[in-house]
Amino acid sequence: EEDGKFVGAADVDYAEEEERRMSAEAFQSVRQQLGRSYLPLINGEYVNTAEVIDSLNPSNFSEVIGKVGLISVEQAEQAMQAAKAAFPGWRKTPAKQRAGILRQAADLMEQRRAELAAWIVLEVGKPVKEADAEVSEAIDFCLYYADEMERLDQGVIYDVAGEMNRYIYQPRGIAVVISPWNFPLAIACGMTVAALVTGNCTLLKPAETSSVITAKFTEILVEAGIPQGVFQYVPGKGSQVGAYLVNHADTHVIAFTGSQEVGCRIYAEAAILKPGQKHLKRVIAEMGGKNAIIIDESADLDQAVVGVVQSAFGYSGQKCSAASRVIVVQPIYDAFVQRLVEATKSLNIGETELPSTQVGPVIDANARDRIREYIEKGKAEAQVALELPAPEQGYFVGPVIFSEVLPDGIVAQQEIFGPVLAVIRVRDFAEALAVANGTNYALTGGLYSRTPSHIQQAQTDFEVGNLYINRNITGAIVARQPFGGFKLSGVGSKAGGPDYLLQFLEPRTVTENI
Ligand code: NAD
Ligand code: ALA
Repeated sequence: EEDGKFVGAADVDYAEEEERRMSAEAFQSVRQQLGRSYLPLINGEYVNTAEVIDSLNPSNFSEVIGKVGLISVEQAEQAMQAAKAAFPGWRKTPAKQRAGILRQAADLMEQRRAELAAWIVLEVGKPVKEADAEVSEAIDFCLYYADEMERLDQGVIYDVAGEMNRYIYQPRGIAVVISPWNFPLAIACGMTVAALVTGNCTLLKPAETSSVITAKFTEILVEAGIPQGVFQYVPGKGSQVGAYLVNHADTHVIAFTGSQEVGCRIYAEAAILKPGQKHLKRVIAEMGGKNAIIIDESADLDQAVVGVVQSAFGYSGQKCSAASRVIVVQPIYDAFVQRLVEATKSLNIGETELPSTQVGPVIDANARDRIREYIEKGKAEAQVALELPAPEQGYFVGPVIFSEVLPDGIVAQQEIFGPVLAVIRVRDFAEALAVANGTNYALTGGLYSRTPSHIQQAQTDFEVGNLYINRNITGAIVARQPFGGFKLSGVGSKAGGPDYLLQFLEPRTVTENI
């Protein structure tokens, strides 16, 4: 902290030769560890499972990153019982001590930064520079939520003469965290440590395709001193183990990040009271987006082109924050599309281990096939402004730009989650805003403009959780751009912001007549 302001971890500067050397060494060391087995952590023990899956490198799927044991429903029940048994002790553990474990975990992640980034690159195909930024984000979540818990732990005092009033927070109970694969460390870590530091016993169920990284995160929490049963790593199938834990009568909080389909289902299932359940569940569901960037006639096109390319194609468009629509006003439409196409052609696609690479593979064969189907649908409804070839090996999809896309077109409405960008032509700024708001989502959005009235209007009327003006729309930073959406992009308060921890806490008021 500097002057009371939160200061986050610094990313690696790959311009430094020493940093590049350390990164290369980390890849070498991680490569020697490929193919090992990772087991679930239940009640402080790594347990064997009947089912094991291979987690593959999306850049080269003959490379097995690790073999991951998936728990059964019976084992999920054992984990739940262990969490319940650990809760009385954890809820009484002083907040300062819980925060201390998060700070220790942050230290360990900083020490293992290059190695963790290498695991992210190899397991989910994220280019190394972004993988490193993800390690920073995970560290920031630990440090920020540790500070936040200590702040909340002070409670609020409303004393008057003859009466003592205390406003205090207590944990809710058992938290189930269900994480996506696209920020396999940062998002899994953020939701988990928020649940833990607030005093909840926590079960982490990662996405199947990113279970090795979460196993590494588990090692870190254990080394940082998390007590047995308080945190448990429960990799398993979402539709089976995930659904079982969501529906469990003893679950109090569900922190989910993932698709709209699964998020809406969890929200509905969690609302049903189960036999023996004496509370209502709190659901935090961070879901998808169909994020737009508006370019008006006063925009600095050089800046706009760079920002759109980065926002649309970074990590192959597989960020919930990614731009998948660009809405451009008529007078500059043709010029913009031409420059966008030229800039996209110069993207570095392929080698995820190199800091200069911007576009890697997509996560798996299903994603590749789904994205290809969307590309075919786009071809039937719009013009192809650019379709780049992709490397042969691995699950690569070359970036695609569609122009003259209609606002209600399939590729303008559905979350594709790949390197596919729809460019929409509008008459003026008013129409641009209407089109931008014309989806079910409200996650991120951007505006490139030098017109003060447009900038002003976007702030009030552009329906997004995170609005970025004259910059790219991805890469929110903890305690600087608290992150999350509304409408069908999610329910809950923003990750990395001052309201986040409150969702894991039950506030109480104690009044004493004196
Ligand atoms: P997904 O919804 O397929 O899976 C997310 C998690 O839910 C996984 O762990 C999965 O195993 C689990 N799951 C699946 N079915 C379940 C069920 N019936 N009950 C309980 N759990 C179940 O999403 P994904 O493919 O891993 O992630 C990509 C999606 O996540 C995109 O839509 C993206 O926009 C979204 N996302 C949103 C944010 C955000 O902050 N808003 C951040 C990252 C990703
Ligand atoms: N928080 C991530 C971003 O802003 C999803 O890109």
